[in-house]
Amino acid sequence: MRTYPTLSSNVAQAFAPGRVNLIGEHTDYNGGLALPFAIGAGVTVSATGHTDQRVDVHAADLNETDSFDAGAPPPVDGWRAFARGTYAVLAQSGIRPGGASIEISSDLPQGIGVSSSAALSLALFMALIELAGEVAPEPVALARLCQKVEQDWRGAQTGLLDQLASVHGQLGQATLIDFQDLSVTAVPVELDGHRLLVMNSGARDPGALAGYNRRRSECEQAASRVGAENLRGALYQDLHMLPDVLARRARHVIGENGRVLETVEALKRSDLDAVGALLDASHASLRDNFEVSNPAVEIAVQAFKDSGALGARLMGAGFGGSVIGLLPADAAPPNGAVEVRASQGAHLLCKPRYGEPHAAG
Ligand code: GLA
Repeated sequence: MRTYPTLSSNVAQAFAPGRVNLIGEHTDYNGGLALPFAIGAGVTVSATGHTDQRVDVHAADLNETDSFDAGAPPPVDGWRAFARGTYAVLAQSGIRPGGASIEISSDLPQGIGVSSSAALSLALFMALIELAGEVAPEPVALARLCQKVEQDWRGAQTGLLDQLASVHGQLGQATLIDFQDLSVTAVPVELDGHRLLVMNSGARDPGALAGYNRRRSECEQAASRVGAENLRGALYQDLHMLPDVLARRARHVIGENGRVLETVEALKRSDLDAVGALLDASHASLRDNFEVSNPAVEIAVQAFKDSGALGARLMGAGFGGSVIGLLPADAAPPNGAVEVRASQGAHLLCKPRYGEPHAAG
């Protein structure tokens, strides 16, 4: 049980962290397995209620603003789609926070695959639901609201990996997510002095969004051709039924689900060499079977390997973005690599004072 301080009468404030994904890439929308964790850096949203319907948004890091009518937010590109999309999706659920001044600040690098968009979306939903005086939905329902903004307002057919990783984060624990039933299991990340680091490989390819959506549709085609509801139900012996490209997509997903379980076991027995080998195998499959690497990602993976990493792989959607590496304690990290640790998940920082501050679990 904890209580929340109140800053002034009508301010709600929420923080949502970014995530790294230790292993289990492009498995979420295939009913598969993944092992992400929330990191320390994230997005903070403060929402102060207005008496009218006007919404003013300020993105502090970009020093950009947006204004719209709370009742009818028009479509828009870029970061502005998040606040507008949140209002629109909340309205569909009958939740109306009304006009507000929204301040967004972040210490997450954008566009490098640590999921700044899911963190922004979660922090917005959490703050605005509080501002509306409503009870926050449980984690899966909250994650689905964020996913709806990604899909309807940004055209990205993403799964639930990023949102669930951010919402379920716990200090020192990764979250094993089974996307077949959305169940989660905490897995301690004990690295015996080794370090996990992430590094930006550079800008994402211009075709990244289209490439992501195409991979998703290829996986759906592969599942339907082998008669499975999704690729979680596909087996290696089914692959001969598929044309080459679809067979390779399915081979990645089947293998990656197995590697997630092997990583959980390797962590339990503190076998970090095995964890490193699994990261390398994941990367090889993402590059050769799933075809989501690019030359900049390969250079970043090689930089980790040259630094003595036990394993390194592209992380997130691919087509550029972030690379994760596991380094022994005494190895000097490559330039630009940042250590990441499993940290607390998304949470409220402040509730509006509609009565006495109340306790929450
Ligand atoms: C992005 C998406 C996630 C997931 C990963 C790949 O981060 O938002 O849903 O599909 O790519 O594992």
